[in-house]
Amino acid sequence: MSDPVFSDLLKEERVFAPPPAFAADAVGTPALYQRAAADPLKFWEDHASELEWFEPWQQVLDWQPPHAQWFVGGRLNVSHNCLDRHLAGPRRNKAAIIWEGENGEQRTLTYLQLHRQVCHFANAIKSLGVVKGDRVAIYMPMLVEAAVAMLACARIGAIHNVVFGGFSPDSLTDRINDSRCKILVTADGGWRRGKQLLLKNEADLALASTPSIDHVVVVRRGAEDEFACTMRPGRDLWYHEIMLDAPVECRAESMDAEDVLFILYTSGTTGKPKGIVHTTGGYLVGTYTTSKYVFDLRETDIYWCTADVGWITGHSYIIYGPLANGATVFMYEGAPNYPKHDRFWKIVEEHQVSIFYTAPTAIRAFMKWGDELPARHDLSSLRLLGTVGEPINPEAWMWYHQNIGSERCPIVDTWWQTETGGIMIANLPGAKPQKPGFAGHPLPGISAVVLDEDGSEIATGSGLLAITQPWPSMLRTLWGDDERFRQTYFSRWDGSIYFAGDGAKRDKDGYFMILGRVDDVLNVSGHRIGTMEVESALVDNPVVAEAAVVGCAHELKGQGIVAFVSLRGKLAGDEELRDKLKQHVAKKIGAIARPEEIIFAADLPKTRSGKIMRRLLRDVAEGRALGDTTTLADPAVVEKLRTLYEDKEG
Ligand code: WT7
Repeated sequence: MSDPVFSDLLKEERVFAPPPAFAADAVGTPALYQRAAADPLKFWEDHASELEWFEPWQQVLDWQPPHAQWFVGGRLNVSHNCLDRHLAGPRRNKAAIIWEGENGEQRTLTYLQLHRQVCHFANAIKSLGVVKGDRVAIYMPMLVEAAVAMLACARIGAIHNVVFGGFSPDSLTDRINDSRCKILVTADGGWRRGKQLLLKNEADLALASTPSIDHVVVVRRGAEDEFACTMRPGRDLWYHEIMLDAPVECRAESMDAEDVLFILYTSGTTGKPKGIVHTTGGYLVGTYTTSKYVFDLRETDIYWCTADVGWITGHSYIIYGPLANGATVFMYEGAPNYPKHDRFWKIVEEHQVSIFYTAPTAIRAFMKWGDELPARHDLSSLRLLGTVGEPINPEAWMWYHQNIGSERCPIVDTWWQTETGGIMIANLPGAKPQKPGFAGHPLPGISAVVLDEDGSEIATGSGLLAITQPWPSMLRTLWGDDERFRQTYFSRWDGSIYFAGDGAKRDKDGYFMILGRVDDVLNVSGHRIGTMEVESALVDNPVVAEAAVVGCAHELKGQGIVAFVSLRGKLAGDEELRDKLKQHVAKKIGAIARPEEIIFAADLPKTRSGKIMRRLLRDVAEGRALGDTTTLADPAVVEKLRTLYEDKEG
């Protein structure tokens, strides 16, 4: 056996069983795990049968590693399953989407109304020459029309390529050109933290170098001329105008289960963005099934996922998974701290949100803003909480549990990736106890393991997270680069095992704790230490809101640990606190993990999806020129840090 991939330092002993009333009629039961383990293919096939197919499949799975085909020969349409399927029964007039603008405006679309909008828009883009297989770029704020555009593409078999509205014109250009999109759907603008976001102007910069784009469809966010934008005659069209002329009758295209549904670009740590390819049947079955059980969906729920539709979380758990289940989805346009820092809790109270799904980075911001903000609101409608995107530190988990869930709501910590399409590891909320900081067990039908460098399984302990069997919503390839697909995900071991790029540990109960990206791992005196463990130890101290840990070159130890720390409330850091925190880490996980240096900072550099960019912190810690900063949410943050660090070093 090779050396352990990660040290296993953080001890977590707390266990929270599902509340008995929750467990008593949970959608996902312990028996589901047994059923899936007994016959995984049958498990997926049974769930596929809950959806509507135009033609049945002949074979559940054809696996030629690294290429999987699911529901071979089956034909279906995703928009039909998210909309038409619900129109024959009582969901016909149920709210599909409840939307709130940052300025307080509200809009509700029933399944019938959403269906009509989607059909109109599908016909509208057809009239612009979009046919099955064409790529459509979508660059939108969080508006209902983003969902309409995605579902309209799915309806006619066009492949959508959603680009997060916070990305720069250059990123949009690259993503349009790589997949040669035929049209772009955007908006004149949106509201963010009380300011106008002039999206069409951004798009125009990108459109200067996108020869494949024939037309641009522009949604008008406000009143006429409220958001400044120019329309190029012949190319640019208003959404509301082309909708007027479009007929409402629109047959859902019969798609092969393996036809591409969408491409979504993900940046990764190095190289150019990867165009993750998801297909029709498997993706829908995966997101439908995981939404149903992980979120314990009921007809009466108001389900709110705070992600942006520009990320995979938005695709799978705002649009496709919940709508395939006939759920009511709440959608919010703006910032969590506008007009005040309690906006989310005001929304929960007003709309009686029952399921709330957000990211650890948001939770740590809520912690920083103070306990009194959620305390001011009636959050008793909530019954289930979720997190995704990063490891959640046990202390943040506890804060969420106490201050948002009133110690009453189970928390599902969901591990997955753009590549996996749907949730892979999470304890079903009514079937298994939760442990803070642990995502838990692989979902029924998913085979996740921890392996060492040689590919031997580590039953308890830490190593590399891997998936040993194909799953329906897995990526099929990278757009235009199948070799990079194989290299990146299937070349680490025997060619049939998926390498996720994350470190994980498994405890004696089989719970997985995700330790962070393998690229971020520290090596202190020959011990590999996950960034997550040291960060959790720091956040465990009540004065710390957020921490990011990186390695710096160290003469003796190989690497030393540098911690960037932001404090809660309005606390200021000093030498005494620095020592106290170093002590705290040493006590919590051992002297080996004691930071060499602690830098206090108001903010940490993050990507627009809220992930801390440790690569840049490493540059700061090692005094190098900063690498690519174009994906940072706020480039000023890292410059400020560098000044702080240099001052410190004298
Ligand atoms: C990476 C994937 C999948 C939706 C959002 C991110 C990290 C994700 C967790 C979790 C620990 C997590 C992993 C993963 N990650 N969820 N619950 N606990 N880490 O999608 O941008 O494709 O990022 O996010 O490192 O590999 P993504």
